[in-house]
Amino acid sequence: MYEQVSHSLLNDILTDLKPEIHKQDLRHFYTRLGANFYSIYSLFFTLYGKRDDVDQQMQKLVETMARQYIGRPEPLRESDIAREKDHNWFLSQEWVGMAQYADGYAQNLSELRQRMHYFLELGVNMVHLMPMMQCPSGASDGGYAVSDFRQINKRFGSLEDLQQLAEEFHKYGILLTLDVVLNHTSNEHEWAQKARSGDPKFQDYYYIFDNREVPEMFEATMPEVFPETAPGNFTWDESMGKWVMTVFNDYQWDLNYGNPAVFIEMLDIILYWANQGADILRLDAVAFLWKKIGSLCQNEREAHLLLQLLKDCCQVTAPGVLFIAEAIVAPVEIIKYFGEDAINAKECEIAYNASLMALLWDAIATKNAKLLNQGIQNLPDKLERATWLNYIRCHDDIGLGYDDNDIRAVNYEPYAHRQFLIDYYTGKYKGSSSRGLPFGYNDKTGDSRISGSLASLVGLEAALESGDQKEIDDAVKIILLLHGITMSFGGMPLLYYGDEIGTLNDRSYIEDPAKANDSRWTHRPRIKWENVELRNTPGTIEHQLFSALKKMIAVRKEIPAFADFNNRKLLQVSNPHLFVFSRFQYDQPANRVLVIANFDHAPQYLGLEDLGREAYFRTGTLRDLYSGESPIMHKEDLIIPSHTFYWLSDQLS
Ligand code: GLC
Repeated sequence: MYEQVSHSLLNDILTDLKPEIHKQDLRHFYTRLGANFYSIYSLFFTLYGKRDDVDQQMQKLVETMARQYIGRPEPLRESDIAREKDHNWFLSQEWVGMAQYADGYAQNLSELRQRMHYFLELGVNMVHLMPMMQCPSGASDGGYAVSDFRQINKRFGSLEDLQQLAEEFHKYGILLTLDVVLNHTSNEHEWAQKARSGDPKFQDYYYIFDNREVPEMFEATMPEVFPETAPGNFTWDESMGKWVMTVFNDYQWDLNYGNPAVFIEMLDIILYWANQGADILRLDAVAFLWKKIGSLCQNEREAHLLLQLLKDCCQVTAPGVLFIAEAIVAPVEIIKYFGEDAINAKECEIAYNASLMALLWDAIATKNAKLLNQGIQNLPDKLERATWLNYIRCHDDIGLGYDDNDIRAVNYEPYAHRQFLIDYYTGKYKGSSSRGLPFGYNDKTGDSRISGSLASLVGLEAALESGDQKEIDDAVKIILLLHGITMSFGGMPLLYYGDEIGTLNDRSYIEDPAKANDSRWTHRPRIKWENVELRNTPGTIEHQLFSALKKMIAVRKEIPAFADFNNRKLLQVSNPHLFVFSRFQYDQPANRVLVIANFDHAPQYLGLEDLGREAYFRTGTLRDLYSGESPIMHKEDLIIPSHTFYWLSDQLS
């Protein structure tokens, strides 16, 4: 949009640009800056307009974008232009992701590169590597306490190793996703060190207070993220003699985005990683970016403005790079991280679908899809050019983040229902064979979250111990049922490394004092490649799961109706054990797939009259695209075996 005030400011900024910037060919940069400037200006002035130095800060912002544009390698600039043309590229059903710790999957980045064929074999073409930036050698929250945002931790290798990996990935059509920890730094970061030594400039990078007065005011409304291990949201720093805000662990200092210098530093870091070859950046803990006394300090409007500003700036320098919002918050809040009051996503193009994740775990425990149906029915449609990251589990705990109204709507009592789920997944509930561990127990509220590998949570570990073949088969079926949904729901499925071969809980973390108090390490495995080899040995669990998943991925990629264009319709059916939705190809709606998932351990039936307007599925020959088989019908009823999913098509092909 053209607007005089911002335009004349832009003219001034461009006139004042440093000569080394002026000399470059910035054609594409200027076009994009012109297009986004009004928005950048408005957001920046809304956030920082009251400061005397706002114009200088704005000048610095533009220079930061220009410098990183100049440093952007030519192949990445070309990919920016190609993606601008094909702007829906990431909504395709052809993408399948995997999240992993580089040093859990392999020893380091160079070994990871040698093991790249494994992704290709499985069909994975997006790999999310958890943070690898320099961090303290002891506790570092799995790399989420960064002490140098521009260095790779030596354990993983070097920056060159990462660049080589990115190049190799790109050669084979694999997208590289890197983590950027926006909300906080390690207390060993240079900024924190300078703050500790009394430098006021760097004290203003954090929330630092002389006494408990302001911290107490914050505490009155702020929840605790790690109540067991890091209670409260402030830590006393002895060397500084002051209190510092530490929402996560006491060694993770929250950055003060009320200071534009922090914003510009972090934008620079985002663009730096974009220039190392990242296709997607996962922005960690974005819900926490803005702190305000009297609020939860989560999901604040300004946190959204910051993300919009980051997006607008990134579009100027590296428009081919996407953002993932890691906002594991209430369903109505998550959707806002795509941006509000817009048509196209204007914050993050991708967001973790934590709502679906939590609802799936509910359906497994209750063996019915009541809450799942209710929750998904209330999931608002996304903006265009926005997509979900659909996952079953990730490196974090499973939080029971349901909307209480949804829980009540299906006749459960929220507190009691959550207690049931905690008991179920920690194996306390009678009849549960789940081997999860509690995480983040809060003795004030009774809340807890759950750790544990997918296989151990669904009973595979217990079944293998007892040797009961039926139970082993059931656990395998549940694992595939869950994947069958994340692969067809709409969005990018994100596998978690090790799950593709049924990796069980790993309790060795207890031996390591830096990890012992964090049960999430039970599901952050070091991959044993001798087990991975078993994927080639029929009769093993590894073979069963890996080959099923490989096939599922291959079939998904062939189904255009699985691309994500808000082309899903949830079908309310009378059988509570079933989760049913249809997917249709957005440009050829007659091309449809009916997805049915049975969460019960007994076979269930679906009366075709339940499908209402989708009754066209009655005609034609129903065929499950995954197995290639036709489901059993009894008169007008479709029979769905226990813990089974179908991807039904009535197209004869
Ligand atoms: C994110 C990460 C989690 C980490 C937290 C603090 O939620 O996924 O692992 O503990 O941020 O950085």
